[in-house]
Amino acid sequence: MRLVFLGPPGAGKGTQAKTLADQHGWPHLSSGDILRAEAKAGSPLGKKASSFMEAGKLVPDDLIVDLMVDRVTRPDCRNGFLLDGFPRTAPQAEALDTALGGRKVALDAVIYFACGDAAVLQRITGRRTCPQCGGVYHVQALRPRVEGVCDRCGAALVQRKDDSEAVVAQRLATYRLQTEPLIEYYRDRNVLRQIDAEQSIEAINAELAGILTKVSAREP
Ligand code: AP5
Repeated sequence: MRLVFLGPPGAGKGTQAKTLADQHGWPHLSSGDILRAEAKAGSPLGKKASSFMEAGKLVPDDLIVDLMVDRVTRPDCRNGFLLDGFPRTAPQAEALDTALGGRKVALDAVIYFACGDAAVLQRITGRRTCPQCGGVYHVQALRPRVEGVCDRCGAALVQRKDDSEAVVAQRLATYRLQTEPLIEYYRDRNVLRQIDAEQSIEAINAELAGILTKVSAREP
């Protein structure tokens, strides 16, 4: 299945994407994770991207489009993928459509994570991540077994630089201006499915499973 997860920062896209990708064996393609890995490696792309990311702005399309389009057209994505954080602008969505259309395939569904600003702020400012294995936790909703320590690899958890209250405000403004219009873009193409992302992690997981069953059966 070819899926896109769309929604405001901190809505829980990555949390659900990791679980679904593990359950189904689909590659989980997170543009944010890819850019953070480039920044950590100190690559030219990572260096250019860092200043935009830390300011809560989008990395320019010309830095991200070819990278992500190349990624979804690799052999491991032949039977499906889960895109998380891409596309985020109209030109990105159009480039993805063109690349998939050229291979005579299309997106099966775009899942829109509907989540209000108060929940976004509470989730993002409470998020803790593992710099080693990428594990994601929350100080209330998803606590590690030992406070401040990753369950999976034992590394010390950190707070992302762009998870401060000030940067979250800018990320939300960027989202409203540049990414929210994609909701209509995909609704017009009859692939949009909306979920209430303010529910618990388990409830969202169950709702997603129901949606994917309908998508597979081509039911509305
Ligand atoms: P990116 O990493 O994609 O950040 P984002 O979209 O802002 O999304 P987040 O990772 O913040 O949130 P999420 O929805 O995945 O939430 P999560 O599951 O972690 O992008 C970062 C930056 O990279 C961008 O600002 C931009 O600069 C650049 N970038 C990336 N892609 C780009 C693109 N295509 N074009 C241009 N620039 C790009 O959950 C959040 C927290 O909530 C966690 O602590 C989690 O444990 C908790 N949580 C999750 N679900 C629930 C729940 N149901 N209830 C309670 N808590 C929950």
